[in-house]
Amino acid sequence: MKVLCAVKELQTRLCKLHLAPVGFVPTMGALHEGHLSLVKSAAEQCPVVVVSIYVNPTQFNDKNDLKNYPRTLKNDLELLEKVLRESDIVFTPDNKEIYPEEDKREFHFGNLDNVMEAMHRPGHFNGVAQVVSRFFEIIEPDIAFFGMKDFQQLAVIKELVKLTGSNVKVTGNPIIREKDGLAMSSRNVLLEPHIRNNASVIYKTISAASIMISEKEIAEIKTFVKNSIGKFEGFDVEYFDIVDDTELTPVIKRSEMQKGKRYFACIAVMAGKVRLIDNIEIGLV
Ligand code: PAF
Repeated sequence: MKVLCAVKELQTRLCKLHLAPVGFVPTMGALHEGHLSLVKSAAEQCPVVVVSIYVNPTQFNDKNDLKNYPRTLKNDLELLEKVLRESDIVFTPDNKEIYPEEDKREFHFGNLDNVMEAMHRPGHFNGVAQVVSRFFEIIEPDIAFFGMKDFQQLAVIKELVKLTGSNVKVTGNPIIREKDGLAMSSRNVLLEPHIRNNASVIYKTISAASIMISEKEIAEIKTFVKNSIGKFEGFDVEYFDIVDDTELTPVIKRSEMQKGKRYFACIAVMAGKVRLIDNIEIGLV
C-alpha cells in the first residue's frame, strides 16, 4: 500500500493505476475491526481501494470531543498493512489539503435534519457532508463503504449523493461488535474501566426492545430502555427511537409500522463522558 497525504499525489497515482472500480473507505482513524471489515469488503469488490484517515474538524459540534478524539496513526497503518494490497492507498491529508479555503457550503437533508443525531449534534451532518463530498470530488470513487453503526450518517450520505448528482454507489456494512455485544467504535477506548464493564447493557437492552415490539407499545418500550440503561451509574439515554430506514421518521404507535418497510431502533447514550450510539433492526409486529 502507498501512504499519501497530498491531493495531487493521490490523483496522479489513481490515474497511473487506471483500475476500476475504485473503492473508498472514509475513516477518522483509531481503526478497529469494524473499519477493517469495510476495508476487506472494499478489497473484495475493487482492484484499488483508498482508505482515508482524517479527523474532520467541521463535523465536531463539541471542541473537547475533537480534542480528545483518539489519534493512533502508527497503529492504524500497521493494521492496514495487513489487509491492503500493493495497489491500495492510504490517504492521510491535513486540513489545508481538504479545506484550502473555508468550506461555507450548507446542505439540507429534509427530515434527516430534524431527528435523532441532528437534534443533539447541531451542524454535525453538514460537516460530514462537506468532507465526504470533498473526498468524492478528489477520489472519484465508484463505491464508498460505510458502517451501519452510523445509521443516520448512512441515510444522510445516500441523500447527499442524490442532492449532488454523484454517481458513487454507497453501501452500508453490518455493525461489528465486541464479544459482549458493545458496538465497535473508535470512542470505546475512551471509556473508563467501570463504564466499559457495564457498556454491554446498551446492546442487551436494544435487543430486548426489538423483541418487545411484538406485544408492547412504543412508549412502554422507550420507558423500559431508559430505565434499564439509566439504572447503571454514569449511563444516561439521550434518545431512543424506532424509525424507518429511509425518512428516519420516529414511529409513535406500533400501528403506524407498515409491511414492506424496514425499521430500526436507534439509541444514543452518554456512558460516563463518552457518547455512544447503536442500532438494531426491528422485525415487524
Ligand atoms: O464515520 C466517520 O468516521 C466519519 O463521519 C467520516 C465518514 C469518515 C467523515 O469524516
